[in-house]
Amino acid sequence: MIFGRDRQRRDAEPTARPAPRPSLETPRRAPRLPRFAVAATDELGDFAPGPGVGDLRRARLALAEALAPSQPVTSAERFAGRADVLEALIAALEQARAHVVLYGERGIGKTSLVHVLAETAREARYLVLYGSCGAEARFDEMFRSFAQRIPLLYHADIPPTTDEEAHRQTFADLVGPGALDPRELADLFGRIVGTRVILILDEYDRVLDVGFRRNVAELIKNLSDRAARVQLVLTGVAASLEELVGFAPSIRRNLIGLPVGPMDEAGMAEILDRAEAATGLTFGPDARAAILRMAAGSPYVVRLLGSRAAGLALDAERLVVTREDVRAGAEAVLSEWNAGLPRAVQRLLDRPEVQRALPRLIAAARASGTPDGSFSADDVAAEAGTSDTAGLAAELEAFASRIPLFERVETDTGPRYRFRTQGLAQLLGLSAALARLEAHR
Ligand SMILES: Nc1ncnc2c1ncn2[C@@H]1O[C@H](COP(=O)(O)OP(=O)(O)OP(=O)(O)O)[C@@H](O)[C@H]1O
Ligand SMILES: [Mg+2]
Repeated sequence: MIFGRDRQRRDAEPTARPAPRPSLETPRRAPRLPRFAVAATDELGDFAPGPGVGDLRRARLALAEALAPSQPVTSAERFAGRADVLEALIAALEQARAHVVLYGERGIGKTSLVHVLAETAREARYLVLYGSCGAEARFDEMFRSFAQRIPLLYHADIPPTTDEEAHRQTFADLVGPGALDPRELADLFGRIVGTRVILILDEYDRVLDVGFRRNVAELIKNLSDRAARVQLVLTGVAASLEELVGFAPSIRRNLIGLPVGPMDEAGMAEILDRAEAATGLTFGPDARAAILRMAAGSPYVVRLLGSRAAGLALDAERLVVTREDVRAGAEAVLSEWNAGLPRAVQRLLDRPEVQRALPRLIAAARASGTPDGSFSADDVAAEAGTSDTAGLAAELEAFASRIPLFERVETDTGPRYRFRTQGLAQLLGLSAALARLEAHR
């Protein structure tokens, strides 16, 4: 259609007119190419032509910060809900003097929690050191870097009125260049006085090296034996905790596992309240309800849907986000997630027998909202509202063997299952919620 209109206009133009020369002051640019809305200097000035409404531009600029779904919250100001987990975390560190494994699903808010913990612990004069682990993390490098950030002034043998040189030195100066031994490291950390140190190992479950994880268990054991003033906080999945205790069973009494479960409605609503305050946007009551229902306790999904929907409202030059914005945003998110699934999983999902079992798979997705993502046949039966637990159990077994969508976990109370593919449960949950939203349109 556009092609047809353009041709008509060109046909109507007089042919003999010379082409206008581009002026130096106003360089010619393709009029319809997308352009940045806000200058990199964060000035709102007159940079973007667009609708010329300062409020819209200000909202868009603020939105990128207020609801960025891929960035953890790093300060208490932006942190919503979760007071109970933070309280339990502080009690574990301050009263039980324990080491902590904070575990929960991807995107549930572990990194945000440890950042906010670090902030409040620093206010209480703790020395808090943060380290993010990757698949390639090495024990030596990580702990040498921690030692480098502990001033030698906190060493029991260094008098406080010492010379300038000691002010510049750190615990790393007492560590040799070779491989770090967890026992020697615990001896060294056992000499810390005058402060307490919290070492945060975020994304601990991503570490591939078993040696690293074994060393961490050994370190926790030795720090506990020496009642050292150093405590570790690890974030990961439930299996991280089980494995640590497996390496060194005696650490069980010094290691507290804290689950981070789904965020409650009030917490999720607070995320949207804060976004409204920061951007000047309003989420209409229907839009809000739709986001909370679809997010099902995931702060990540609240932010993702919230920012998509708000972006669509701003594109339409509105400051009020509607339910339709949320629906369209969720649809876009779903198709991206679908495209991101491994091919083999996409093929499994397309099988007719899987399509027929979709309602049970969706019930399983809902039942998987536990901190370790696992569920039993009874949990799924409760979600699906069926009394045929035997039939359901057989179906779940098939999903753990013939149609490999689940992994099977043996427990004392019978088998439990977990989705094998990261993000699949969330995708199924969101698509079911979207279908319900569309049905009630
Ligand atoms: N308490 C909170 N208040 C506001 N936003 C939050 C909160 N907790 C998490 N979020 C948001 O949810 C998203 C995921 O959070 P975060 O990165 O902390 O989760 P995670 O559990 O560390 O994820 P991963 O398992 O991928 O490491 C981020 O966009 C973050 O800003
Ligand atoms: Mg994280």
